[in-house]
Amino acid sequence: MNSAEAKTHIQQLTDKINHHNDLYYNKSKTEISDFEFDKLLEELITLEAAFPELRLPDSPTQRVGGTITKEFASVVHQYPMLSLGNTYSAEELTDFDARVAKGLDGDAYEYFCELKFDGVSISLMYENGLLTKAVTRGDGVRGDDVTTNIKTIKSLPLRIRAKDVPARFEVRGEVFLPKEVFKQLNKEREDIGEETYANARNTASGTVKMQDSSEVAKRKLDCYLYYLLGEDNEVESHSDAMKKLEHWGFNVSPTYKKCKSVQDVLGYIQTWEKKRHELPLETDGVVIKVNSLEQQERLGFTAKSPRWAIAYKYKAESIRTRLNGITYQVGRTGAVTPVAELEPVFLAGTTVKRASLHNANEIMRLDLHLGDYVFVEKGGEIIPKVTGVDLAKRNASAKRVSYITHCPECNSILIRKEGEANHYCPNEKGCPPQIKGKVEHFIQRKAMDIDSLGEQTIRQLFELGLVKTPADLYDLRKEDLLKLDKVKDKSAQNMLDGIAASKTQPFESVLFGIGIRYVGKTVAEKLARHFKTMRNLEQASYEALLETPEVGEKIAQSVVEFFKDTDNQNEVARLGQSGLQFESNQQEPALVSTVLADKSFVISGVFEHYERDQLKDIIIANGGKVLSSVSAKLDYLLAGDNMGPAKREKAEKLGVKIISEAEFENLLKG
Ligand code: IVH
Repeated sequence: MNSAEAKTHIQQLTDKINHHNDLYYNKSKTEISDFEFDKLLEELITLEAAFPELRLPDSPTQRVGGTITKEFASVVHQYPMLSLGNTYSAEELTDFDARVAKGLDGDAYEYFCELKFDGVSISLMYENGLLTKAVTRGDGVRGDDVTTNIKTIKSLPLRIRAKDVPARFEVRGEVFLPKEVFKQLNKEREDIGEETYANARNTASGTVKMQDSSEVAKRKLDCYLYYLLGEDNEVESHSDAMKKLEHWGFNVSPTYKKCKSVQDVLGYIQTWEKKRHELPLETDGVVIKVNSLEQQERLGFTAKSPRWAIAYKYKAESIRTRLNGITYQVGRTGAVTPVAELEPVFLAGTTVKRASLHNANEIMRLDLHLGDYVFVEKGGEIIPKVTGVDLAKRNASAKRVSYITHCPECNSILIRKEGEANHYCPNEKGCPPQIKGKVEHFIQRKAMDIDSLGEQTIRQLFELGLVKTPADLYDLRKEDLLKLDKVKDKSAQNMLDGIAASKTQPFESVLFGIGIRYVGKTVAEKLARHFKTMRNLEQASYEALLETPEVGEKIAQSVVEFFKDTDNQNEVARLGQSGLQFESNQQEPALVSTVLADKSFVISGVFEHYERDQLKDIIIANGGKVLSSVSAKLDYLLAGDNMGPAKREKAEKLGVKIISEAEFENLLKG
């Protein structure tokens, strides 16, 4: 394909994919299957790799990330990013209303109410319809340029096609991690033995500042917009502005309302006090804005905040109760979680008896003593939190809580790795919750998908000594299952059918199911595709593992350790004998070209336009090979910034060609 052909094709693909993205994320509609969509995107990624100079500024490939930013550039805000004054009561709000009325010399006015979204504020610059810059709040005067990360947010338009778009405008809003996404993220992390995140807001904030934008893309951030700025927007009120934002394709929360009076505002506040918990994101109050822009201008700003807007913060629903004790739960990976056992109290509609304490650091931070009276709060999350201690009610003889040293389930000595917050029970093979947890992990939908078995069944099978490892499931007979509570012929058969059907689950699901620490579903897919068979994977060296996309040192080490263990070897062998899929039937992506045929590469360092895994994919898609260590047989060392000096020295000594990112792009052109 020549450059002119590529140009037209890139334009067509970009428009097509952006159209489908908009339909899907902003209008909840689909016109093509996921498979067709992925094919289009793959085609565009490959074309852009071959012709990087033809990539369009609104290319949807930016949604999948790929750039690494070592340090974010600092940007001065054209309009400072101010904060809002806070109010906590109807009286304070009435005072605000009186100040507004006075400031407007008795003219009529109306308010516009929105929820106060609990995320990270962001400022977006659009020029000629294109998103050109995304900047964090920073200190309000200057923030960080996080454009490449923000472009991964699928609901944000990268280009606005409407006719009434001014040449320049700025729009502000809140980036957030939807509650569901946060819950799922933590579940996945817990499942593969990674530490969980404390809350959605901090996780969103950390994600926006990640160095690798392809990691950001995986997190599924979203963004609500609530403030339009600029000279040529042709709007007279905030409500006009919000309508415009919606019309231009921005995601605006549908929860706003115009209010005629402070009474109306109080009604809005009351309506949302409970209902806000049903929204897809965390909210912590209401923002009340004077609707007319001309009136906003007349009211102006104080040094810190606008006089035309204010926040009403909902009181966190908090209550005091007695800490009766602390229990400790052991998860599948052996991670120990402390739980506060509380004197039951009624809070926000339910009786609370327990609250999560996360880890030993949290107990230390709260300086918990047994018998303490603690404050318990229900945030957006369902599980209540202990937020503090009422020191006035502490008994002088109360004993400080000391973290357990032994596993409450199997009495093994707990360990705590340096730099990790969690304690672990190392008795992987003998600790009951870990054994049951492994089987539960194995039967889950993303793994073997045996939904005729559940947590209770696994527990009973374990207690009866029938199932200690996943492989035992395949030896179960009907008479074994009939020993379970309330299980009759029909449900026993149902279970057996479910177990038998799982034998057709693909190799990557089996690989995820066997529960190698840090191997989540995506990594399992990459490993399956790379090694093709269980046998190859079992024999793979640490170096060979590192050649797999998405596999770094921690995962490679974990895989090697897993297969070194003889019990694991036996378990895997038994699963193989039971007829599980041990070979990948994933199709290799079709070769895009053979320009790199027979050429081998080692990739080292950090690159401006690509993530390392992307480079690996591009090399393979063009017929080349990626190796992990430099030898005389190597053709190219692809060198990024901060490359290890040893690699460079070795390559120089052996006469291996060292090429830059730009030289690599030239190679691709053939
Ligand atoms: S309007 C001049 N509207 O709250 C300030 N802010 O304390 C204009 N926030 O930094 C901000 N939801 O990050 C506005 N519906 C909403 C909001 C909102 C959340 C955040 C925003 C701001 C902070 C102010």
